[in-house]
Amino acid sequence: MASSSASDQAKQGLSWMEWLQGWSNVIYEIFFQRIEARHLKSPLPLPPLNDLCCIVTGATSGIGLEIARQLAESGANVVMAVRNPTAAHSLIQTWQNQTSRKDSLKIDVMELNLLSLESVVRFSETWNSLGKPLNVLINNAGIFSIGEPQKFSNDGYETHMQVNHLAPALLSLLLLPSLKRGAPSRIINVNSVMHFVSTVDPNDMNFVSGKRKFSSLEGYSSSKLAQVMFSNVLHKRLPTESGISIICVGPGCAQTNVARDLPKIVQVGYRLIPLILFNAEEASRSALFAATDPEIPKYCAQLRWDEWPACAYISYSCRPVNPSNESLRMDVSSLVWEKTLDMIGLSGDCLDMLLEGKEIQCRYLCFFTNPCTPKFLCTCAPVNFQLFDHGSAGTANIRFWMTT
Ligand SMILES: NC(=O)c1ccc[n+]([C@@H]2O[C@H](COP(=O)([O-])OP(=O)(O)OC[C@H]3O[C@@H](n4cnc5c(N)ncnc54)[C@H](OP(=O)(O)O)[C@@H]3O)[C@@H](O)[C@H]2O)c1
Repeated sequence: MASSSASDQAKQGLSWMEWLQGWSNVIYEIFFQRIEARHLKSPLPLPPLNDLCCIVTGATSGIGLEIARQLAESGANVVMAVRNPTAAHSLIQTWQNQTSRKDSLKIDVMELNLLSLESVVRFSETWNSLGKPLNVLINNAGIFSIGEPQKFSNDGYETHMQVNHLAPALLSLLLLPSLKRGAPSRIINVNSVMHFVSTVDPNDMNFVSGKRKFSSLEGYSSSKLAQVMFSNVLHKRLPTESGISIICVGPGCAQTNVARDLPKIVQVGYRLIPLILFNAEEASRSALFAATDPEIPKYCAQLRWDEWPACAYISYSCRPVNPSNESLRMDVSSLVWEKTLDMIGLSGDCLDMLLEGKEIQCRYLCFFTNPCTPKFLCTCAPVNFQLFDHGSAGTANIRFWMTT
């Protein structure tokens, strides 16, 4: 258990010096990212990825769309995990028509709405029940509702925290059995330099205590910092034998739909600065690099042996960098880990249980059961799916399937 003194140390905000350092990181990234990344080609050349199985969340727009398209174009089996399957199907149609490959792209769609933890559980159950190995999970989907008032999901959580941190954390944990089956495998979290300008209060991740004034900027940057802290603990707690690497990436500052909520006048200015900002293809490079570079698992293992308090963080220039000093506070990170598990409805021992293929419970929707266990505790609606088996779409009764 993390100590209560760590809880006391959880800061309500950065000191002015930390604040200044954080914002100088953000400003440096905006103005110098092109120079720092000038050695990279766009699109990033990828090796043949035949047989690599990847899930990309938020693949209907911006960076995620580019990640999914380029992985599929290089031969990977890609699942677009999206909240708008119709949009995803129409993208696939376009890509199939445009592809330079001789064979068709191996790309499919599964519905996932990160604003619903139930949807995350259903998605994971459906995927795990297929018994397929998963090599790469890319947690890309995210929101930045700039200037909007505080909103809460139906699960009761602040929406930035839920979409950017809690739901991806639940997805990553519930997919561990498939990632273990696909080892060596990787979980990649598309993070942001904005995590440098915030703190996380593990006792108030929902911003309801009134100790900190909520703003969309605070909500977004705090959710991204929580994601780094959670990833650091996951990296530390996953045994090396699991063969699963955890990587956070900074995509750089890019022109995407992430600014859809900006006031119209600001959006005009935003569109006028393409010379500084990346396009989505350029911003997809760090995630694609983290997903495919053969040295990444060795680098992650090295960090573990060196007892470095963080997982790998790959910058927009595809170089390893340090995350913020705040994210390196293991005492607070442990509290964020515990609080996150509590909020997503998992018990403290879920990591070991999932890796060992044991039965676990999640507060959201279902009991999970090992296929060897005859009792079937899950009572979910059927889900339509059609994965890498073109022509034989089906309906699966969902159940959670874990093998050791
Ligand atoms: N653009 C930047 O400058 C920048 C900088 C740093 C970090 N990032 C991070 O990069 C990631 C991708 O952002 P982007 O710039 O590509 O933005 P984007 O164009 O707005 O794409 C975001 C994607 O997330 C999906 N999404 C949003 N809410 C969702 C939900 N509840 N459930 C499932 N999917 C959901 C969106 O789906 P729909 O298409 O259905 O809306 C969309 O596909 C985010 O994590 C963002 O924080 C971006």
